[in-house]
Amino acid sequence: MEYENILVERPVEGVGLIRLNRPRQFNALNSALLSELSDAFEVLDRDDAIGCIVITGNDKVFAAGADIKEMADAGAVEMLTRDFVGLFDRIRAVRKPIIAAVSGWALGGGCELAMSCDMIVASESARFGQPEINLGVIPGAGGTQRLTRAVGKAIAMEMVLNDRRLSAQEAYDFGLVNRVAPVESYLDEALELARSIASRAPIAVRLAKEAVNKAFELPLGEGLEFERRNFYFLFATEDQKEGMKAFLEKRPPEWKGR
Ligand code: CAA
Repeated sequence: MEYENILVERPVEGVGLIRLNRPRQFNALNSALLSELSDAFEVLDRDDAIGCIVITGNDKVFAAGADIKEMADAGAVEMLTRDFVGLFDRIRAVRKPIIAAVSGWALGGGCELAMSCDMIVASESARFGQPEINLGVIPGAGGTQRLTRAVGKAIAMEMVLNDRRLSAQEAYDFGLVNRVAPVESYLDEALELARSIASRAPIAVRLAKEAVNKAFELPLGEGLEFERRNFYFLFATEDQKEGMKAFLEKRPPEWKGR
């Protein structure tokens, strides 16, 4: 399918790459872009040849947030019924790992989009912020929740209440991003990380992602139970037999995704 606001590529075996492509609007997330994005995620999620998805912007901007022009005149009832933020829930439903490769601005909904992913690889020029307070509103796509879980209450309060912006290094120090790389190589690093994840046992990767995410939603006892049942469940897969046999035979495993 042809998209107008995003580009979808398959640059490396097993990896789907989505590029946000509204450069003149600093990749502002309007409803058309978000709807294309959720469609592309669903297509890649269903594709057996894809094991990991990378989403990126360009070197200067990941995304400058929700499209302010589109929202400025909207009323509360229109916002509620259009529910464009609800499109972020579809990203949450993607079962394959998603890596955000962030360079330049990741503001408002852009920061929230990056945080909706499972990992973030940042370039040295990446800047993260939740500036909605300057517009008389608050984050609406998870900013107050995901940011607080990632960086803790103190820093999240400053970012959400007072537009504190984090440099790539600060974001790394506070645990928001996985790694920081030069602008010239952050995307390659993200693609290499994705390729490496995509080369692993697919069902185990899927259940591993689910289990880590449950840590944010379940009390410890229930989370441990969820993890243990899935650990036992994996003994029903051919890949578990192959993985353990290959270890004992001192050879690399050949995964089948079954
Ligand atoms: N929505 C719509 N258009 C945007 C935009 C946005 N979020 N961010 C930037 N643009 C547009 C600008 O209007 C401008 O377009 P024109 O040339 O047609 O005027 C173009 O992108 C370039 O922007 P600037 O001239 O402002 O460029 P700059 O280099 O001086 O500043 C910036 C860059 C710091 C990213 C600045 O544009 C900015 O602060 N943008 C808004 C960031 C923001 O407030 N995001 C939160 C949005 S609300 C939200 O996301 C809600 C939610 O939680 C879901």
